[in-house]
Amino acid sequence: MKIGSEVLYLSRQHIASLSIGMSEVISLLEESFLEKAQGNVDALAKIEVHPKRDDNFINAMVCSFPKYNIAGLKWISAYPGNREKGLPYISGLIVLNDQETGVPMVIMEAGVLTAIRTGAVTGLSAKYLARKNSQSVAILGCGVQARTQLEAVLAICPELKIVKAYDINKAAITLFAQEMELRFKVKVEHAFNPQQAVEGGDIIISAGPIVTNPDPVIEGSWLKEGCFGAPIDYDSYWKKSSFETVDRIYVDDVPQFESHRQMGYFNAVPPVYGDLADLVSGKLSGRLNDSERIMAINLGLSLEDVAVAALVYNLALKQELGQLLPV
Ligand SMILES: NC(=O)c1ccc[n+]([C@@H]2O[C@H](COP(=O)([O-])OP(=O)(O)OC[C@H]3O[C@@H](n4cnc5c(N)ncnc54)[C@H](O)[C@@H]3O)[C@@H](O)[C@H]2O)c1
Repeated sequence: MKIGSEVLYLSRQHIASLSIGMSEVISLLEESFLEKAQGNVDALAKIEVHPKRDDNFINAMVCSFPKYNIAGLKWISAYPGNREKGLPYISGLIVLNDQETGVPMVIMEAGVLTAIRTGAVTGLSAKYLARKNSQSVAILGCGVQARTQLEAVLAICPELKIVKAYDINKAAITLFAQEMELRFKVKVEHAFNPQQAVEGGDIIISAGPIVTNPDPVIEGSWLKEGCFGAPIDYDSYWKKSSFETVDRIYVDDVPQFESHRQMGYFNAVPPVYGDLADLVSGKLSGRLNDSERIMAINLGLSLEDVAVAALVYNLALKQELGQLLPV
């Protein structure tokens, strides 16, 4: 590759063909948050625009990561109406620049990577916050993210064997169940409403669309002792009572979380305890006993995207994968 006059392009297929393991990504993110705790990463809070309708948004996520000699941007959209058009809800691109010269090195599709890293962040939180002997997981919203969410918690909690899945679209549950049972040898039960999925669950993951005016469903009284909750869809599906029932709430990055409060999200969420950098560096404790109810509200931080994109880029270079484009 002629740096400065060529840039590498990696498509969805290129990235998927690398078959990156979930446990590897969880470890990579653990190291990355440790770098952040040591002040070695500059990961800005994401900013967003809302074109056309409020529930559509596009985020710009920026991070400089000296350990990899890389600075990167993820430009990623979420459009809930896309499903009806046969398009993915989430789509976007990542650009990585060489940190010495500022020259763009690679452009890659962002959807596959987002799904892997969002799963891995939940996995990392679960490592510190879920009960290791968790046996059951509730999944609300059986789309793209649900699959890697399940993969990640299975990588962390080896005794997980019951999956209760709920979606407003029954066909989505059926497809999810078929795929997951085949891939992970778990039993997936169809829940007929959110309560049936959540009650008794050791781990509860919500992965429906993020909406500006939420109509949340998950009640505090549904959350059993010792559970771990992971909303990846902001505050769209959890009622105020559920945020108030949990003993502690963690996030992936406190400044980014607080900047989203300023934007109008998370009004019902009490003060949060800390973030992933605090947890992996040992500055704050994680789960203390088997009866605490704990929640991790991970919004997705640029650091996570750039660390995984750097891994993808290096693997692609080694395997001579991708297409060179003239600048
Ligand atoms: N926190 C992060 O870092 C991060 C990263 C990526 C995606 N996300 C979020 O994850 C969520 C899921 O994204 P995706 O790519 O899987 O989308 P998707 O469209 O593939 O899946 C969403 C699923 O939710 C279902 N659904 C819609 N309304 C529902 C409701 N009221 N109750 C239950 N299910 C409902 C849909 O039928 C669909 O199957 C979105 O909110 C997205 O913004 C978060």
